[in-house]
Amino acid sequence: MRLIFLGPPGAGKGTQARELAREWGVPQVATGDMLREAVAAGTALGREARTYMDRGALVPDDVIVGLIRERLSQPDAKRGFILDGFPRTIPQAQALDRLLADLEQRLDRVIYFQVSDEELLRRLTGRRSCPRCQSTYHLIFNPPQRPGVCDRCGTALVEREDDREETVRHRLRVYRDQTAPLLDYYRGRGLLATVPGEGAIEAIRAAIRRAAEVAA
Ligand code: AP5
Repeated sequence: MRLIFLGPPGAGKGTQARELAREWGVPQVATGDMLREAVAAGTALGREARTYMDRGALVPDDVIVGLIRERLSQPDAKRGFILDGFPRTIPQAQALDRLLADLEQRLDRVIYFQVSDEELLRRLTGRRSCPRCQSTYHLIFNPPQRPGVCDRCGTALVEREDDREETVRHRLRVYRDQTAPLLDYYRGRGLLATVPGEGAIEAIRAAIRRAAEVAA
């Protein structure tokens, strides 16, 4: 199963990708998580990425494509993967096409999460994340069992730097300008499946499973 989860910030890509990757036994390849790990580790990549991420801008394509090339070349990605947060620009999508051709692989489906802007703002401003295992929660819609503590690994939850309202609004503009054109790119190739991203998390997961099964 080789899937892309595509959608605006806060659409629920990470929430769904984390569970479905476990269920299907394939890696969740989340560029945002990889960059946040680099930031936390204080690497040169992390220091560069942070200057873009904190203001809600995209990290340059060549940096991201290098990360993905390295990750998809690892043995655990041979059986399949869920790309979460990549590609985000047309040049990234074209680079992915070239990379998959080199690896003699093909994409099965691009799952687009459709969510209104008001809902995205509500979700991102109430999101809490685990800095250790990257699990995400919401203060109201998806709270952890113990307030402020990750269910999965017991680490104290934090609010992401880029989830402040002003930065979220900028991320939504960046999505519209640079990422939304990918919908036509993949629709034109017959790969796009739209799932309603609003509603119960489990119901959305079932819709994604159905869309992915059609592709399998
Ligand atoms: P990244 O981490 O990828 O952020 P994003 O795409 O903006 O996505 P989010 O993580 O904000 O949202 P999500 O769709 O995963 O939603 P989630 O499941 O958490 O990227 C961050 C930054 O890194 C970028 O701004 C950029 O700088 C850089 N970057 C990353 N990739 C890049 C690339 N390819 N190119 C260039 N730069 C890149 O859910 C959100 C909230 O909603 C949570 O609180 C969750 O609990 C809740 N929720 C989920 N589902 C539901 C539901 N059904 N009902 C109610 N609440 C729900």
